[in-house]
Amino acid sequence: MDQASRVREKIDIVGFISEYLPLKKMGRNFTTICPFHSENTPSFVVSPERQIWHCFGCGKGGDAFTFLMEYENLEFIEALRILGKKAGIEIKTYGTPFSSSKKELIYSLNKLAAEYYNFVLTKHSAGKEALEYLVKHRKLTDKLIKTFNIGFAPFRGEDLSNYLINKKKFSKNDLIEAGLSFQRENRVIDFFRGRIIFPLIDHRGNVAGFSGRTLTEKDFGPKYINTKDTLVYHKGGMFFGLNLAKDEIKKQGSTIVMEGEFDVISAYKEGITNVVALKGTALTEPQALLLSRFAPKTALCLDQDSAGILAMKRSIPFLEKRGLMVSVIVPSGKDPDEAIKKNPSAFKKAIKNDIEIYDFFISKLTSENDINSASGKKAVTDELLPLISMIQNEIVKEHYLKKLSREVNTSYESLLRQLDRKTEGKNEKVFQKLKKLDRREMLEEYLLALIIQSKNPKDEYLKSKEILINYEFLVPSIGKILSEFLILSKKFKQFDIKNLSKNLAKELLPVFDKCFLMLLPKFENAEKVSEEAIKVSKELRVFFLKNRIREISETFKNTKKNDWEIKKLREEISAIVSQIASA
Ligand code: GTP
Ligand code: MN
Repeated sequence: MDQASRVREKIDIVGFISEYLPLKKMGRNFTTICPFHSENTPSFVVSPERQIWHCFGCGKGGDAFTFLMEYENLEFIEALRILGKKAGIEIKTYGTPFSSSKKELIYSLNKLAAEYYNFVLTKHSAGKEALEYLVKHRKLTDKLIKTFNIGFAPFRGEDLSNYLINKKKFSKNDLIEAGLSFQRENRVIDFFRGRIIFPLIDHRGNVAGFSGRTLTEKDFGPKYINTKDTLVYHKGGMFFGLNLAKDEIKKQGSTIVMEGEFDVISAYKEGITNVVALKGTALTEPQALLLSRFAPKTALCLDQDSAGILAMKRSIPFLEKRGLMVSVIVPSGKDPDEAIKKNPSAFKKAIKNDIEIYDFFISKLTSENDINSASGKKAVTDELLPLISMIQNEIVKEHYLKKLSREVNTSYESLLRQLDRKTEGKNEKVFQKLKKLDRREMLEEYLLALIIQSKNPKDEYLKSKEILINYEFLVPSIGKILSEFLILSKKFKQFDIKNLSKNLAKELLPVFDKCFLMLLPKFENAEKVSEEAIKVSKELRVFFLKNRIREISETFKNTKKNDWEIKKLREEISAIVSQIASA
């Protein structure tokens, strides 16, 4: 057995995936909201029997390895190493596959760059002014600078590139791919120049990128710039500080999300360490997913300006989708950095007195509007109903609808009606999308699912086959899977359908997995399954025959035929018509 198979045997996919996602038992399988695309109802399915997963929404699927690779954005060899460790199997990697991987190369370059920047800030004369700014004006200590590995990028603009190329023997292209440098004519120029540098480190401890802040307000360019997207850094995919905070986040069961780097650093100084920074943007879907992996609760502590409020609203759907409890911490000041410096104990109190996000918005909006006027009621409910409609838990949703109905003195029923009206359009869109799917393709998949999930797949298939004489599958792989199955079940008397996957060609596996995991309606007994399979087969046959008629009429139109040929075709059509009639 090869290494991967040995590891696969030791890892239980249900246990493994539930370390990442909350799985719910559903019949023979487990389901959850798919982490790889955006959805509101779970279509991600894990099969303990087959040790596979599949998402019916986005079509992705595979085994424990592919899950880890997708989820953590890893290459196979990296996933093998991680799972091998879990399984207690030592993975022998021949040669140096790690240093040869592009991602690993960028991580190691970034690590060197971070060390270089930190050296400049703390030890070199080029970093003197920056160090003074950080210590005197921003009240950072040596320890904080070390903890966050803060640095300074010299103004000259070629120092880092020269160091990495001449001293560390990296190539110009490596630097460019890491986003550390760019080329202008024949010169290689540092991306960050004259900026305070914050390494952006992912939760696994890799330096994925950097953000750089101007030293003074007068300096050229935007106040902050970030590494451009690279193989390892994607805008909106990570948090500043998560690498340091993750253990404390797990311990406390909650994450405090702030806006900027300095907010997080100031919080740390006061011993508040379950904090991360969004870096100025609204929270994204991947970020919500990341948070849900570490703690069930997220407390948003953003600036109380209109941008901060908007960021909170935009974050709600993503956080709700991950089933996170969301609250708001109101800092007394421009931002947490200022509030903490002004009065650390008041800030700690504000953390303790965090408000659930819907309570926060209800009280904010009712105090900003005249709720005794019709237009005030409309303004409040127009803002709040879309937020409340996103609440996933029906009991919580009802709680807030009732609260809102009291606050604006409107009946609960009116709120419900208004809520329905607001969501009507949305549902229609989903419905249209569903109708666009080809019914025949859907039926073919459904038939395969009915057969392979039944108690007696061979018998079920034979019954359908009798109906589907000469039938050609619109999805060819379904036809191939079924005929492969028939061959094997004839060869081995007790052939178990579960073992079919081992004999199938690789390209047939996704369809097989999908149908094996498809959630079927509840059937009272095996007979009802048979009835359904027969019904579906008959409908498919009619589809097929009608299609055949269309083909024949096309031939009529397009080619000249002699009388005998015409007679033959006519006969065929009337035969088909009577078959359809009797179907
Ligand atoms: P500091 O003086 O550095 O504490 O910033 P601030 O608190 O005045 O900044 P602000 O509240 O406007 O921004 C909060 C966070 O948004 C910063 O820490 C950055 O991460 C991010 N940010 C601010 N300005 C920019 C910008 O011009 N570009 C980008 N990409 N991000 C920014
Ligand atoms: Mn700020």
